[in-house]
Amino acid sequence: MPPSPVTTTPEIYALLKGLHEKSLTQESTVDWRSLPAQCTDEFDSIMLDKFIALDQDKCEFIYHLLRSIDAKTVIEAGTSFGVSTIYLALAVAENAKRGGSPRVIATEKEASKAQVARAHWASAGKGVEDVIELRVGDLRETLTRDLANVDFLLLDIWTPLALPALKLVQPHMRPGAVIIADNTIMAGDLYQELFEYVDAEGSGFRRVTMPYAGGMDMIVYQ
Ligand SMILES: C[S@@+](CC[C@H](N)C(=O)[O-])C[C@H]1O[C@@H](n2cnc3c(N)ncnc32)[C@H](O)[C@@H]1O
Repeated sequence: MPPSPVTTTPEIYALLKGLHEKSLTQESTVDWRSLPAQCTDEFDSIMLDKFIALDQDKCEFIYHLLRSIDAKTVIEAGTSFGVSTIYLALAVAENAKRGGSPRVIATEKEASKAQVARAHWASAGKGVEDVIELRVGDLRETLTRDLANVDFLLLDIWTPLALPALKLVQPHMRPGAVIIADNTIMAGDLYQELFEYVDAEGSGFRRVTMPYAGGMDMIVYQ
């Protein structure tokens, strides 16, 4: 196995590893083919106790990317129990050692999930929890205010919300900002609206699909 690009303590690395394992164990109990449509009450209620954390290799890639673009202000659309958020926080905190203020704006609709996420961040320590601002509620409302100089947006959200989230954040993105969207091959048909928007001539976006499990797109705002 190649070495991890994540600069952190053995304790935080072990915490992350354990959280990914819990998420995968839980995912193996879900029948993904028979789920109701995303963004319905029925779907949300099934997902209420689920991590559905971004895979570890994807989180590590995102950490690496954030270090390389020197991201300080990051937005996460879809936080759940806050696993990927820990990587975002570690990366911006490391970048901010060279100057600037680290800021991760996390978004989660479900108050009970937000509470669990906060407990995970507390386990990771002050260096993580202090850089995260968690906005609890529907991101279509919580991302309408107080955004500036955004370096990066993670779209790890129900697919019908991906484009609305991008449109809310876009006016606040700096040139060269990066967007990552998960599961873009597996859920390719559900991402059509997002793809049409970013692929349109003159959109300012450029997109590449990367061969991670289920596909993961990297979009650059030029
Ligand atoms: C795939 S999970 C996020 C996983 C997380 N990024 C991780 O890797 O640990 C998507 C989350 O988005 C949340 N969500 C769904 N609709 C939302 C909305 N309208 N506003 C904010 N969050 C929402 C869900 O409750 C769910 O926890």
